[in-house]
Amino acid sequence: MLRRPVCDLLGCEIPLVLAGMGGVARSELVGAVTGAGGFGFLGMVREPVALIREEVRKVRACTERKFGVNLIPAATAPDLLNAQIDACIELRVPVVCLFWALSADVVRRLREAGVVVVCQVGSVQEAREAETAGAQVLIVQGREAGGHVRGLEPLLVLLPEVLAAARVPVLAAGGLSEGADVANIMTLGAQGAVLGTAMIATHESFAHGVHKQRIVEAGADGTTLTDAFHINWPPHARVRVLRNSVTLGEHGDPFDGRRTVIGEEAGRPIYLFSTDSPLRSMTGDFEAMAFYAGKGVGRIDAVIGARERVQRIAADAVAALRDRGPLPASF
Ligand SMILES: Cc1cc2nc3c(=O)[nH]c(=O)nc-3n(C[C@H](O)[C@H](O)[C@H](O)COP(=O)(O)O)c2cc1C
Repeated sequence: MLRRPVCDLLGCEIPLVLAGMGGVARSELVGAVTGAGGFGFLGMVREPVALIREEVRKVRACTERKFGVNLIPAATAPDLLNAQIDACIELRVPVVCLFWALSADVVRRLREAGVVVVCQVGSVQEAREAETAGAQVLIVQGREAGGHVRGLEPLLVLLPEVLAAARVPVLAAGGLSEGADVANIMTLGAQGAVLGTAMIATHESFAHGVHKQRIVEAGADGTTLTDAFHINWPPHARVRVLRNSVTLGEHGDPFDGRRTVIGEEAGRPIYLFSTDSPLRSMTGDFEAMAFYAGKGVGRIDAVIGARERVQRIAADAVAALRDRGPLPASF
């Protein structure tokens, strides 16, 4: 009942999509979501090509289904970005998702190589530009989203505006944690849902246990938008995180140019005010790192298996849609 045309393009059974969360969405999580019939993006922002190769190999070891890689051109040094794109093309990665400032050149290169290109957007104008550049699927991100937030509008305001303008399948992202949320956006005409925060609190996510636990404990009003976590990204980028000592201003001015090491990952320093979130592979002062979470966090109350979370959301969405009549026609 949830199956929409976008499922044919992405090669999945149900239109529930794991967001390409940097650091968090690795092969274990992509494999579990794919196994449940959904679609998964590896979050590979700024990751070395060797890790992309390794993670792609691991996904292919557990599924024959399609999957994707998420990249952020604006937050990646040009040489590394070129190498990442070359690797995705050479590895025949079926789908690539791009986010933040649109790079029409990157879209064109990927399309010419036969890769399906998905762009996450935060406004109608961005949606139009992405489609003109060649995006075959749009993800509309509402301001409720966890992590970097591109747009200013709530999802249920922005989604109908983009749907009215778009000529390609549209997915919705931001604050979606339950089947009823998925039913709501599909009733409006979205072909599926992109899940971030709901998938952090799973056994398979690469987030550190501290992050998973903070998500489980957080209430509905536990998040805030801030630009304090800025090292590694273009300036003035806002992220939605759980409130902590950084968002409360206890570490001073984030923009005074100091570099304070608060953790490490395989010899790489993790700086205070950087965009790094606590991962399994890190040690350090997690409390002062970015605990990304969307506004749906209050309805995530346990760490469970990713397969179970996807299946539960899908079953609840089907039940919620049963009484609502046919879904709007879509491309
Ligand atoms: C921990 C975390 C990391 C994220 N990293 C990325 C990323 O690297 N690339 C990207 O396109 N989006 C990223 N996002 C944003 C997601 O694509 C998506 O918009 C968001 O998770 C949807 O909102 P939700 O978290 O409320 O489900 C991230 C989100 C989270 C929570």
